[in-house]
Amino acid sequence: MDQNTGFEIEEVAINDPSVHEEEFELTLRPRLMNDYIGQRQIKGNLEILIEAAQKRQEPIEHLMLYGPPGLGKTTLAHVISREMSANIRVTSGPAIERAGDLASILTNLAAGDILFIDEIHRINRNVEEVLYPAMEDYVIDLVVGKGPSARTMRLELPKFTLIGATTKIGMLSSPLRDRFGALYRLEFYDDDELAQIVKRSASLLKVEIDHSGVSEIARRSRRTPRIANRILKRVRDYAEVKHHGYIDRGIADQALKRLDIDHLGLDRTDCEYLNTIINKFNGGPVGLDTISAAMAEDKDTLEDVIEPYLLQLGFINRTPRGRIATPAAHQHLGIPVQPGSSPLL
Ligand code: ADE
Repeated sequence: MDQNTGFEIEEVAINDPSVHEEEFELTLRPRLMNDYIGQRQIKGNLEILIEAAQKRQEPIEHLMLYGPPGLGKTTLAHVISREMSANIRVTSGPAIERAGDLASILTNLAAGDILFIDEIHRINRNVEEVLYPAMEDYVIDLVVGKGPSARTMRLELPKFTLIGATTKIGMLSSPLRDRFGALYRLEFYDDDELAQIVKRSASLLKVEIDHSGVSEIARRSRRTPRIANRILKRVRDYAEVKHHGYIDRGIADQALKRLDIDHLGLDRTDCEYLNTIINKFNGGPVGLDTISAAMAEDKDTLEDVIEPYLLQLGFINRTPRGRIATPAAHQHLGIPVQPGSSPLL
């Protein structure tokens, strides 16, 4: 923990399917709400929620954080726990295999604790049913014994707060979604917010970087802090080998070109995705399953990691008949729109 900045530097494993590797990344996480850059509206709402709960000396209501990967859902959950001076217990939907696993997690919580469930859309039905009464009435019903002698036993739980996170809010059942007191959608960051994040990370990593280097990295980070921090570290490597460690626009540009990251932040997979729609399917519409098969790329990776930023740039449209590459995408890749392509374009 850096006493001056309120940031902590920690090692965590980040499994990012877009790069197909599991790597340990040094992350630079803000600890308190004041250090957390961006997501202004969510922060404003959370500050009121937290202050009101503290005044009433109650835990905050169950919260759902959703949006594309890398925008800070897990970080925000940790920030909330620190602001509430609450313990946080971290797990994920797929890690809770049986109802009994969840029962044991819940019965080990203390009053005021926060339970963070990442990828909550991947929780299975049996587990989800235990969650309903736990969230609503702070109880769980356990079945004890088997056959005719089986009976249910109701256990009281301490008043806890569930924070769920998901990239796929649409996959949540409505009974589960309805049990959250507030749902917050994390937005992509603007260039200025990303520049602030890059600047602070550089200062914590003791990287020398000028204003032009900061803005070049910010501009090419897909509006995503996790990517900005990852790129900063790769550019730092390049600068240390080629430029005595100093980063300016020129060095950032050279390093990013070597990483195949273009001036809008698109990498090889993004461009391959667009090229597939344009060259193999005449611009679309084409179904996601077909694109996934043509690229030999996982469908969920395309949907969760690749598409959100391309949608944000206006490079693709999702229609009932499939994905379409827009004229802006054609222009970016320098490919003219074919005369016979979709009238939906
Ligand atoms: N690092 C990653 N996300 C961040 C954020 N939202 N604010 C500050 N630093 C960050």
